[in-house]
Amino acid sequence: MSNKSSPIGIFDSGLGGLTVFKAVRRLMPGEDIIYFGDTARVPYGTKSKEAVISFSKEIAEFLSARGVKLLVIACNTASSLALEEVRAITRVPVIGVIEPGARSALGATSNGRILVTGTTATVTSGAYRKVIKKLEPGAFVFEKACPLFVPLVEEGWCGKKVTKLVASEYLAPLRKRGFDTVILGCTHYPLIKKIIIKALGGRIKIVDSAQATALEVRADLGARDLLNPARRGRERYIASDAPDKFKALAFRLLSIKVKNVEVKRF
Ligand code: DGL
Repeated sequence: MSNKSSPIGIFDSGLGGLTVFKAVRRLMPGEDIIYFGDTARVPYGTKSKEAVISFSKEIAEFLSARGVKLLVIACNTASSLALEEVRAITRVPVIGVIEPGARSALGATSNGRILVTGTTATVTSGAYRKVIKKLEPGAFVFEKACPLFVPLVEEGWCGKKVTKLVASEYLAPLRKRGFDTVILGCTHYPLIKKIIIKALGGRIKIVDSAQATALEVRADLGARDLLNPARRGRERYIASDAPDKFKALAFRLLSIKVKNVEVKRF
């Protein structure tokens, strides 16, 4: 049975989900959080649907066994391909990042022209387009896969010239298409947000799901009277490989000081 002091479980294929973790932490400082990064199998975005479902279910079972009161899939790829499958095997509520991001984009756009960037798997699934069109059938949605962004971020190359060149190659051709809003449809992309904005010519509203997802987490816990009133929650980090790299990059890219990273291999 969940109670107020049960932890929140958050997972991603790697480090990108820490952008969601940070937003959750900022909004709910009293919560205990277990973060799982599947660093042994990152990236998910180039894998098959079957593989992403099977990885996601394994992690969901692992976190459920640690007594989480809520599970956050802080990965657009896994949220696009595996949300229902994870929900089917999990007792606690499961929140993905697609719907919160889609709602934010609809709140941000003035002309209804929304660009979605994401991994190949997320874009191929059409998950954002489906949710946006359901909420606002008149919106125009264009989805663009940017598969090289995740390895560049996981390498820690967020400010490098090569990353700027890759961003420009993917996005500069879309500058004159009248989009006023872009969704960073991958939790790694906020880490190269400035580069993405620049590649798109500068004047565009940018939406990432982190804050919107954190708000949904708080709403869910509040509705179930499970918000932890503690002053300072604890954090536990688990990775499926390379804990030292996880620690170093969490600090370098997100200024998160991680004391210890446990390793869990599947
Ligand atoms: N950060 C994840 C996402 O939001 C996964 C990227 C990947 O592993 O390819 O899509």
